[in-house]
Amino acid sequence: MDEIRGFASDELERAFLVAVQSRGSRPLLSLEDSLQELARLTTTAGMVVVGQATQMMNQIDPATFVGSGKLDEIVEQITETGANVMIFDDELSPRHQREIEKRLGENVKVIDRSALILDIFAQHAQTREGALQVELAQYEYRLPRLTRMWTHLARQGGGKGSSVGVGLRGPGETQLEVDKREIGRRIAKLKEQLEDVRAHRARHRDKRNRSGIPVIALVGYTNAGKSTLLNALTDSDVYVADQLFATLDPTTRRVELPSGRHVLFSDTVGFIQKLPTTLIAAFRATLEEITEADLLIHVVDSSHVNVNEQIESVEDTLAELDMPDVPRILVLNKTDALDELPPIDTDEDYFARVSLSARRKQGLDTLLTAVDRALALQMRLVKLLVPYDRGDLLSELYERTKVTAREDTSDGVRITAQIPLDVYDHFKTYER
Ligand code: GTP
Repeated sequence: MDEIRGFASDELERAFLVAVQSRGSRPLLSLEDSLQELARLTTTAGMVVVGQATQMMNQIDPATFVGSGKLDEIVEQITETGANVMIFDDELSPRHQREIEKRLGENVKVIDRSALILDIFAQHAQTREGALQVELAQYEYRLPRLTRMWTHLARQGGGKGSSVGVGLRGPGETQLEVDKREIGRRIAKLKEQLEDVRAHRARHRDKRNRSGIPVIALVGYTNAGKSTLLNALTDSDVYVADQLFATLDPTTRRVELPSGRHVLFSDTVGFIQKLPTTLIAAFRATLEEITEADLLIHVVDSSHVNVNEQIESVEDTLAELDMPDVPRILVLNKTDALDELPPIDTDEDYFARVSLSARRKQGLDTLLTAVDRALALQMRLVKLLVPYDRGDLLSELYERTKVTAREDTSDGVRITAQIPLDVYDHFKTYER
């Protein structure tokens, strides 16, 4: 499954990290904090950090990104530390990548934060859809960057039928061109396969929607504790690890609320600042789980030094995803690791804020009660056909829902109404 991992090898990977910041820019995280996050990503990917360098710059150097003098310094440090991978905290353009690779020589691979995140995703994807999405994102990321480092990839990754053997190359084509063509073909194939998986999944979702069970999506920064919370709520055993992106594929569990109503909780992929754009695009389908939820729970690691930045990053990513207007609950998790909650700074209008400890299972009831209350206020636009002999149902509709249209037809009364989710069950058999 890791067949297209570009920088995987048996040899221990010793990483040297580089982070830069332009003067005058206002990044979400400070240079140090962003570097620290990069270090966590690096160890999550199974590498060891052996050194790091930072640089404040007036502007990005068109050739070397960090500037020629700084790059010389970095080359020296890399030699001293014996690093064999250099990881950039920002996304490198293909041109920058090539230039830096040239300066570092054959023995040091150059990757950036995006490639690193893609690699972690590749290691963690468990379902077929997850694996296809990551593979697609990896190829799309690599296509414009195809250089000597990747030129063996297409043949390795494509499996049966994709190998371009001796004599099959078109006239005058370089290996690079052949590889690019091959990757293009592979991308098209992956998109087709993904369409199939998605169609299948959409059918599933339809079925679930028709069942009328509200869906609650857990979202949050990576490592916030979403899986732990889902486990605590359901006593199940979803994979939990103190690692970034342990959960890659959505997991859905049924939970009973204090009111007795059943809901589905769905865990989703963790977010992170500077999430590669190819990855967001590839994961849009998985994230559809979020866009179709009746309620969102934003889980936050309130013990993290950058808690407010993480909240902002998640809210920004959600804003990019065209979210429907559903209530959100902010869960301030990991209270057991704190003496006092830090000030939480957000402009988002949350229905409720609940502080809890998923690990110690403290505060879960408060959360479930808040979910009950939020759902009770949630309305769903429904069209019904009510038979004439169900006058009782009509009265109930007028009493408990907001009827927006009525038409008396020969088949019965056609009603369009905004129905609160908690009484939806009474009417769902008459939905048309
Ligand atoms: P991703 O898969 O990266 O999206 O992470 P996640 O949000 O699903 O986090 P996960 O549940 O895997 O938890 C991450 C780490 O935080 C694990 O080491 C958990 O044990 C820890 N954790 C979760 N909840 C709590 C809590 O209430 N208190 C403390 N102290 N640690 C917690």
